[in-house]
Amino acid sequence: MTEATYPAELIRSAPKAELHVHLEGSVGAETLLALAEDHGVQPPARDVEGIRDWYSFRDFPDFLERYFFVCRLLKRREDFQRVAYDYLLTAHHQGAVHVEFHISSSYHTQEVGLDWSVVLEGAVAGCEQAEQACGISSLLIPDLSPHLGAASAQATMDAVLAQLHPRVVALGMGGPSDRWWDEDFESAFDRARAAGLRTVCHAGEHGPAKEIRHAIENFGAERIQHGIAAIDAPDVLGLLLAKKIPCDVCPASNFALKAVDDLASHPLPRMVEAGLTITLGSDDPPLFHTDLLNEYRIAWEYGQLREAALFDFAKNSITESFATPEAKERWLTS
Ligand code: ADE
Ligand code: ZN
Repeated sequence: MTEATYPAELIRSAPKAELHVHLEGSVGAETLLALAEDHGVQPPARDVEGIRDWYSFRDFPDFLERYFFVCRLLKRREDFQRVAYDYLLTAHHQGAVHVEFHISSSYHTQEVGLDWSVVLEGAVAGCEQAEQACGISSLLIPDLSPHLGAASAQATMDAVLAQLHPRVVALGMGGPSDRWWDEDFESAFDRARAAGLRTVCHAGEHGPAKEIRHAIENFGAERIQHGIAAIDAPDVLGLLLAKKIPCDVCPASNFALKAVDDLASHPLPRMVEAGLTITLGSDDPPLFHTDLLNEYRIAWEYGQLREAALFDFAKNSITESFATPEAKERWLTS
């Protein structure tokens, strides 16, 4: 029997959205070096190869340390504009018609001390510039960093809600869940919803499936980033299915951060089999030596998923996005 050939061009040209990518995690080695030079910061390695090597992680805390190093290199409006624009053009070449950027708003405003307007205006300028250049649509999802605590989440909400922009559609949360259980993050999500924002949350990535339940029941998450732990918890699987809540899954990220032992044992095929609505994202692509199309290729190669499943991922990414019904209709019929 001959091996099926991966339909690279069919998948590339399928209209698709990317719902799980972090703006700061889209910074490649060249840009990191340029930003370090601009800001007079000693880079962690001298050349592109060195930075690519530095983009490898012992574990999740080690990853977060490096991710926040990259965050700290983004200081000016033009820095945020540059990385948003660059990523959107890359995504466009991979057949993405729409991208929803997660942005570490708590970290920038509360830890670094940037004014939210610097982050917002820069990211919006990059989105507008890319839309003019190639027509790609994009929206923004400010993310809370729960390791900074609930008071910091509230201060982030003050900043974000004071300057709402039509491109800001949802509130998200990433990072470790240690402080979820004893501190009040619920009211940050309540405030977001009261202001008309949608809500999403990272959960069940490294942590147990109970994170997913908590994200849905306490934070009102409408989409779960990762959610891979659901496969081992029938009750949580049932909750995701009953509420038709999609998981934005990133296999290369899960492998790079050792949430799975290897790509062949990633639960993606079992999640599909269980009937979950799945979209694929690249999370922090250069950090994980991946890109959006590589996630589709991984699903084919390691997950043994074929065209129909991959086209479902692409279609789901559009239907589950926070774009307007008109835009979704246009992309789905293009
Ligand atoms: N922030 C950036 N990447 C992340 C990930 N994979 N999980 C949680 N938070 C993140
Ligand atoms: Zn993520």
